[in-house]
Amino acid sequence: MQTITITGGQPLQGNIRPAAAKNSVLPLLAATLLCGGPCCLRGVPELADVDTSLALLAAVGARAVRHGPDLCTLPVPAADLCGEIPPPLAGAMRSSVFYLAPLLCRAGTVRLPLPGGCRLGPRPVDIHLAGLAAMGAQVELEGEAATLRRFGPLRGTDFALRLPSVGATMTLLMAACCAMGTTVLRGAACEPEVCDLAQFLRACGAQISGAGTPVIVVRGRHALDGVAYTPVPDRIAAATYAAAAAAAGGRVTVEGCAPRYYRAFLDFLRDCGVEVCLDGDAVTLARDPALRLRGGRDLYANAWPAFATDTAPLAAAVLLEAEGPSVIYDHLFANRFSCAEGFAAMGAGCSVRGRALYIAGGAQLRAARVTAPDLRGGAALLVAALAARGTTILRDPGHIRRGYADLPGDLARLGGRCIRRKNAE
Ligand code: EPU
Repeated sequence: MQTITITGGQPLQGNIRPAAAKNSVLPLLAATLLCGGPCCLRGVPELADVDTSLALLAAVGARAVRHGPDLCTLPVPAADLCGEIPPPLAGAMRSSVFYLAPLLCRAGTVRLPLPGGCRLGPRPVDIHLAGLAAMGAQVELEGEAATLRRFGPLRGTDFALRLPSVGATMTLLMAACCAMGTTVLRGAACEPEVCDLAQFLRACGAQISGAGTPVIVVRGRHALDGVAYTPVPDRIAAATYAAAAAAAGGRVTVEGCAPRYYRAFLDFLRDCGVEVCLDGDAVTLARDPALRLRGGRDLYANAWPAFATDTAPLAAAVLLEAEGPSVIYDHLFANRFSCAEGFAAMGAGCSVRGRALYIAGGAQLRAARVTAPDLRGGAALLVAALAARGTTILRDPGHIRRGYADLPGDLARLGGRCIRRKNAE
């Protein structure tokens, strides 16, 4: 198991730029299977989930090659594609679900064992399957796997998502590009990563309108070409650096990620007393570590454009020492706050009741031995440790590298005392 040691009390200083968004890059890699020409995704970080995607592409007969920061794919004839997603790869990340639509469209059949990912509560795939069934796919469930087949091309349809699932919107967007006729998706997710996938598909020749609104219209059956594409910057990584600056104090500029991508988080930090200065795509965060932040926040995490669920644990890390009690409710995931146990070990007053995390505030955090429970919970413990007295040991069974190429290294470059130790006990 990897260990990260963090010695708190060191203000951060400097500039940092998030890489391409994990939650864009992963569906885009799957979408390249739909393209009849080579694709190149620029600025792709070396994440564990990207490695898993490359292994998955190889397992189904495709290939992506890294050229420095870029990932390039070649088109694959349908006859060379295999629709069997190996269980260990499906179980290694939630994003294995993004291979459902491309493999169904290209190979004609796909078998997906239950996708893995962070244990944030139940994460069914019923909306993905219902939408594909509405397009004419035959869906068979056996145990923990879904097998989908099509007989002839998928058909355009008018489909209402029962909730604005990011993943299901992406699945149905990809499928609609290959379906005969027009698809209307109602109640679609509006997250920037959904718009990014639509933008990529449009650059490949797809006819899509309305992405970023709840109603998306796709005119299908236009052959998709290859394209060189730069995915959106990682707004959750940007929020993580901002949270680190707020917790540790100092002055940090997050570059290359438009503030509108994480405005709710920046507004939250400003309300807590962090100085937030915007200059184009750069955001400078400044905080005097000697002054306590203001707590008393009541946050509600929900689908875009509300406060992002992935930033909820990061907000919690900032609020532990702030003056006054706060509460954070996560509407999307039943188990978002597994990191509360680690916060408590560091001396914070906090408790989880249902989907809400209650924070007493006013803590003086101290070093502890803690374990990353999931990706964002792990990042939040790292952020909290930057504010704690002493040296925290964060045991990470691989979660953080699923979403950040080198978070301890990034924070160390800003002056934080973080060291990653590989294979430590
Ligand atoms: N849901 C269903 N049925 C479905 C699909 C979703 O009930 O068929 C439910 C989920 O169980 C959940 C809610 O809908 O309670 C929202 O799920 P959604 O499908 O929107 O999320 P996702 O596609 O599984 C993506 C990101 C998450 C991010 C959420 C919300 C990826 C790979 N993951 O997940 O990111 O939290 O959207 O914005 O894109 C992370 O990066 O750490 C992460 C968990």
